[in-house]
Amino acid sequence: MALRTVTLLGATGSVGRSVRDVVAENPDRLSIATVVGGRDAQALAKVAIDTGAKFAALADESGGPALAEALAGTGIGSGAGRSAVMEAVARPADIVVSAITGAAGLEATCAALLPGRTIALANKESLVCAGEAVMARAAEAGARILPLDSEHNALFQVLGNEPLSAIRGMTLTASGGPFRSWSAERIAAARPEDALKHPNYAMGAKISVDSASLMNKGLELIEARFLFGLKPGALDVLVHPQQIVHGLVTFRDGSVSAGMAVPDMRVATAHCLGVDGRLDAPPTRFLDLVTAAPLSFERPDIERFPALGLAIAALGEGGAMPAILNAANEVAVAAFLAGRLRFPGIAALVEAVCAAAPAGLGAPRNVEDALAIDHDSRQRAASLLSQAPFIVT
Ligand SMILES: NC(=O)c1ccc[n+]([C@@H]2O[C@H](COP(=O)([O-])OP(=O)(O)OC[C@H]3O[C@@H](n4cnc5c(N)ncnc54)[C@H](OP(=O)(O)O)[C@@H]3O)[C@@H](O)[C@H]2O)c1
Repeated sequence: MALRTVTLLGATGSVGRSVRDVVAENPDRLSIATVVGGRDAQALAKVAIDTGAKFAALADESGGPALAEALAGTGIGSGAGRSAVMEAVARPADIVVSAITGAAGLEATCAALLPGRTIALANKESLVCAGEAVMARAAEAGARILPLDSEHNALFQVLGNEPLSAIRGMTLTASGGPFRSWSAERIAAARPEDALKHPNYAMGAKISVDSASLMNKGLELIEARFLFGLKPGALDVLVHPQQIVHGLVTFRDGSVSAGMAVPDMRVATAHCLGVDGRLDAPPTRFLDLVTAAPLSFERPDIERFPALGLAIAALGEGGAMPAILNAANEVAVAAFLAGRLRFPGIAALVEAVCAAAPAGLGAPRNVEDALAIDHDSRQRAASLLSQAPFIVT
């Protein structure tokens, strides 16, 4: 099988690490040619050298000299700033892994949608911010989007070639996060270090906080809506603390198929990177149901986790609301991590920004529209954040 080249956006992050692991396990099938990072020049330089990449781009322009210095004498090209990221995305690649965190990943993800390419999409915020526009652009360009998020990857694999008309609904599972069994009072006093303790995965800070608030599952419902083209009412969430079943498809005849695997991002990653033929996994990545049992399922508690309810409302409303919700959440999570907002303030700020949004804003038609909505919503969130109910005293 031919060697496939990979461009890795978000190369220094948690998903980036999973991708690097899977590529390192399959050197005869995969090779990382280009890496993109955000701000950490030293970490990106190390990743570029370790993976044998030919080009490294850092989004933060001011880190350019440090990156160039760290790569001096290696023969690896480098650049910094928006134009360098765009250059990286345009370089030849069979597969582009989109694993930048947040709406910051939207522009590069869209630019990566070139004819014949496979995009392994971890950056769910791209679809939350501009789902219709991204899916339309992929179809127009002849690029294929494969979901790397483990729930969507499981659903994608379970679905196979079944038509949409065969499906009654889809269920995404959630671990319930570190506060699953906490009282509302205890959750109200949660500190950033509590929220960062995900029970099953070591992930970036933003998605870890989203998992603790269950906003992550709400964003994933919106992602699923655009990936699979289902109506909002056909999508559902179940809390499943063991995270062995990642997704369930209920067919119209009552059959239910479950997508299962150990909770390890490298499983979904291997599926996406093995797009032209499955890759072999090491023995530790195979599921032993006897060891994993018992498996339990429960309904999410929207009272204690209101962020999920807000995301479901935004999914139902459609138009620009998912993008507004996402922007407000990014501001709120950053404020929580910086000690400027209490944990319940995340959902409260998101709710306030969504309520203050101009009525009837349509869905973004392109990246520029989505970025404008994102910008306005962040400004509204920042201004509300400075007001009394949100200030941490
Ligand atoms: N982690 C998981 O298990 C998991 C599972 C499913 C889906 N996802 C999704 O995958 C995405 C990444 O999650 P993560 O946990 O891997 O996050 P992470 O560990 O925080 O890594 C984020 C990566 O994006 C880079 N980055 C940040 N801002 C950037 C910018 N403006 N331009 C270019 N690169 C930028 C970071 O570089 P610096 O460190 O230099 O800033 C880092 O390489 C998120 O959308 C998340 O929802 C993650």
